[in-house]
Amino acid sequence: MRVFVTGGAGYIGSHTLVELIAAGHDVVVFDNLQNGHIEAVRRAGLVAGRKIEVIEGDVRDAAALDAAFRAARPDAVIHFAGLKAVGESGTIPLTYYDINVHGTIRLLEAMDAHGCSSIVFSSSATVYGDPEYLPLDEAHRTGPINPYGRTKLMVEHILQDWCATSDKRSAIVLRYFNPVGAHSSGLIGEDPRGIPNNLMPLIAQVAGGRRTHLDILGQDYDTRDGSGERDFIHVVDLARAHVAALDRMADCGHCETINIGTGHGTTVLELVAAFKEATGITIATRNAPRRPGDTDSCFACCQRANALLGWRAERDIAQMCHDTWAWQVQNPHGYGGDV
Ligand code: UD1
Repeated sequence: MRVFVTGGAGYIGSHTLVELIAAGHDVVVFDNLQNGHIEAVRRAGLVAGRKIEVIEGDVRDAAALDAAFRAARPDAVIHFAGLKAVGESGTIPLTYYDINVHGTIRLLEAMDAHGCSSIVFSSSATVYGDPEYLPLDEAHRTGPINPYGRTKLMVEHILQDWCATSDKRSAIVLRYFNPVGAHSSGLIGEDPRGIPNNLMPLIAQVAGGRRTHLDILGQDYDTRDGSGERDFIHVVDLARAHVAALDRMADCGHCETINIGTGHGTTVLELVAAFKEATGITIATRNAPRRPGDTDSCFACCQRANALLGWRAERDIAQMCHDTWAWQVQNPHGYGGDV
């Protein structure tokens, strides 16, 4: 298939390009390069053994999308482009709704105009809000507690409505748990602009000497050791879930929602210990107050992913730590944009 990858210059997008090409697909990237890196696409091309075409553009720009669809003539879309910082979404909510929701509507209009009717959408476990039970399955009620999560859930509803109007339209919504790690080549990985929000990039930066210590945000959660528990998933496993979703698309014909995690929880302190085990590096930590909006535990039920996609995560926490560190060592300043 010829796949139009919005946000293909980002962390998950760039890893997905490699897996798509390995599976025999053809890819075109559409990215405004606000948070993505052109170097990430170039390196994904190196890993995949093929130069990857990038069209620079914004998903809110109907004319740019129209021109890109006219040139690329894709069979399917994987839609990663969007903003994803929870805290920031509370300070600039309109920008989040504009890019994540309005941008997706423009994208679906372009797909309609160019006869493209299959989309895989990058959603998040954040749409569940505070878990009522674990593991979280797709039937769990949704209730996001921040604007970022609400934009993801709104797009899920839009996709359901879009699919309901034609049998030809297919959407697969992937709800990611906590993506971490990097490609085993060390050539592509996570390079957040500015101060990272998420745990693993912070651990990597402490290990690399860019930060003095890691704050353990909360010590009294209802978990094995009092620190928060999450379902960390290797980004290459996550990337492969997108390939499996495209394969499934042909017999989908409607909108399906699927959790993508490992099904296992790891606490913050367990991850710090696993990082030491995998790399030999001790991460200096300091106890700090809880972060507003954080929950005790969150991990996925992955039965639907197994049943519908024939997919399951294969890489363990040790591999996630090892590959994160290899990326950090080879690229202490990421792709070089924030040296
Ligand atoms: C966060 C977002 C979520 C988003 C996901 C993936 C929040 C409240 N949630 O999830 O919506 O989909 O990222 O991008 O921001 N921690 C520390 N010290 C730190 C940073 C984090 O102890 O310096 C802890 C957190 O308290 C949490 C765990 O590490 O228990 C994981 O945090 P993080 O990587 O930010 O992911 P989530 O909070 O699960």
